[in-house]
Amino acid sequence: MAWIERASYASPWSIHSIREELYTPRSTVLVAVLDRLPMTVAGYLCSRTIPAQEPGLSLFHLLKLTVHPGCRRRGVGSALLASLIEEAWRDGRIHSIVLDVARDNHAAVKLYLKHGFRWAGADGKVMTLLTGTSFLPTMGKG
Ligand SMILES: CC(C)(COP(=O)(O)OP(=O)(O)OC[C@H]1O[C@@H](n2cnc3c(N)ncnc32)[C@H](O)[C@@H]1OP(=O)(O)O)[C@@H](O)C(=O)NCCC(=O)NCCS
Repeated sequence: MAWIERASYASPWSIHSIREELYTPRSTVLVAVLDRLPMTVAGYLCSRTIPAQEPGLSLFHLLKLTVHPGCRRRGVGSALLASLIEEAWRDGRIHSIVLDVARDNHAAVKLYLKHGFRWAGADGKVMTLLTGTSFLPTMGKG
């Protein structure tokens, strides 16, 4: 995962941040594996559950969706996102999935729109997309 981070972002998560994400109780980490032995990771997704302020209103905050540059345009990102969406609606307590994406990240924006995400707000060059209900509570850190 750390290697994919470094290949994909100007400011990649450190190994420490990745480890923290893996062990945070409210974190969901999905990994797309190409080969099991040796394990080859093609991409991953990290999401946090933002607890309900009112019953039934918890949401997933999608923090990361990254596919190894050599594995892009093969449906890996779609598969990871579809798995998160499926898990969210199966859980029953999750109302929405929300994420922030740079406006000029056309690949990611197109992917999210294709999976039903819609515009929910913007802050400068970053926009917020949401799928599920239109309810968007104020999100705290972590
Ligand atoms: C965004 C990202 C996760 C997409 O992963 P991927 O595995 O290549 O995506 P998929 O192959 O599942 O593509 C699904 C759809 O997304 C859109 N898409 C993906 N990459 C695209 C690109 N380079 N240009 C235009 N559309 C693109 C297309 O609609 C595509 O469907 P299609 O192939 O039928 O046209 C990947 O490009 C990536 O890791 N980027 C760097 C990290 C990043 O920006 N993450 C998002 C942060 S919010």
